[in-house]
Amino acid sequence: MDIEASREAVGIPTPATADFWWARLRREAEGVAAREPVLAALVQSTVLDQSSLEDALSHRLASRIAGVLPADALRAVLREAFGVEALRRALRFDLAALIDRDPASDAALDAVLYFKGFHALEAHRVAHHLWRTERRDLALYLSDRVAEVFQVEIHPAVPIGSGTFIDHATGISIGASAEIGDNVSMLQGVVLGEAEEPVPGGRRHPRVGHGVLIGAGAKLLGPIEIGHCSRIGAGSVVTRSVPPNTTVAGVPARIVGHAGCAEPSRAMDQMVFDVGL
Ligand SMILES: CC(C)(COP(=O)(O)OP(=O)(O)OC[C@H]1O[C@@H](n2cnc3c(N)ncnc32)[C@H](O)[C@@H]1OP(=O)(O)O)[C@@H](O)C(=O)NCCC(=O)NCCS
Repeated sequence: MDIEASREAVGIPTPATADFWWARLRREAEGVAAREPVLAALVQSTVLDQSSLEDALSHRLASRIAGVLPADALRAVLREAFGVEALRRALRFDLAALIDRDPASDAALDAVLYFKGFHALEAHRVAHHLWRTERRDLALYLSDRVAEVFQVEIHPAVPIGSGTFIDHATGISIGASAEIGDNVSMLQGVVLGEAEEPVPGGRRHPRVGHGVLIGAGAKLLGPIEIGHCSRIGAGSVVTRSVPPNTTVAGVPARIVGHAGCAEPSRAMDQMVFDVGL
C-alpha cells in the first residue's frame, strides 16, 4: 500500500483525494440539520446544497453583505475570486488558525455561518484581489459593505498574510499603507493608523510581522515595524517600532517581557503548520 492509500485507509485526506475542510463542514452541517430543525433550511441552502467550501462561504457572505447589489451577482464575484489558488489556500489557513486559537469554538461551521471577524477577513481578501486586478470600484464597494455590516474597516489595498485570526472584530480600522504578515492574531478595537505627522509620500501605517498578537483596543500609529512573534498588550498605544519576540504594553507602550511563536494556543500566538489543504 502506498503512502496516499494508507492515509486514505485510516481516514486522513490527501490533497489528491479529498478536501479536508469541505468534508468537515458538510459533516458539521448535517449534524446541525439533524438536531436543530429551525436551522435546517439555513444549513441546507448555505452548505449542503453547495459543492465546495468556497461556494458555501460565497453564498453566506453574499447574503450578508450584498446591500443594494443582487446577492447572485456578488456571489458570482466571490466564487470567482475564491477560485484563485492564493485565496483558496489563505481561506484554509485562516480556518485552521481560527479553530486552533479561538477558545470559544472548534466548529468550522460556526466560522462559515456566523463569525464576523472571519467574514470580514475573507471578504477583505476578495476586495484586495479586486483592488490588485484593477477592479477598484467594486473593491471599494465591498470594503464599504464590510465596514457597515461588521464594523471592520480595512482598506482594500492592505495585504494580509494567511493564518490570520480576527476575534470579535468590532471597531477594527486598518489604513491603506499598512501591511500584515502571516499567522497574526488581533482582537476587537485594533487600529493600524496614521501618526499625527505622516512622512510625505512614504508609508503612513504600521507593518506587522509574522506571528504577532495584537490585544483588544491596541492602537498602532505611524510607519512603525512590529517584529515577528511580538505581542502588543490590550489597550496599548504604540508609536515606536517593536523588536521581534518582544511583549509591549501600556500608554505609551513599553517593553514588559519576551514573547515567542511557540507558546500555547491560549496565548493566541502559535503558528499554523498543517491545515489539511
Ligand atoms: C500583553 C500580554 C500578551 C502580556 O501577557 P504576559 O506575557 O502574560 O504578561 P504579564 O501578564 O506577565 O504582564 C507583564 C507586565 O505587563 C503588564 N501588562 C500586561 N498587559 C498589559 C496591558 N494590556 N496594559 C498594561 N500593562 C500590561 C503587567 O501588569 C505586568 O506588569 P508588572 O511586571 O509591572 O507586574 C497580555 O497582557 C495581553 O494584553 N493580551 C491581550 C489579551 C486581550 O486582548 N484580551 C481581550 C479578550 S476579548
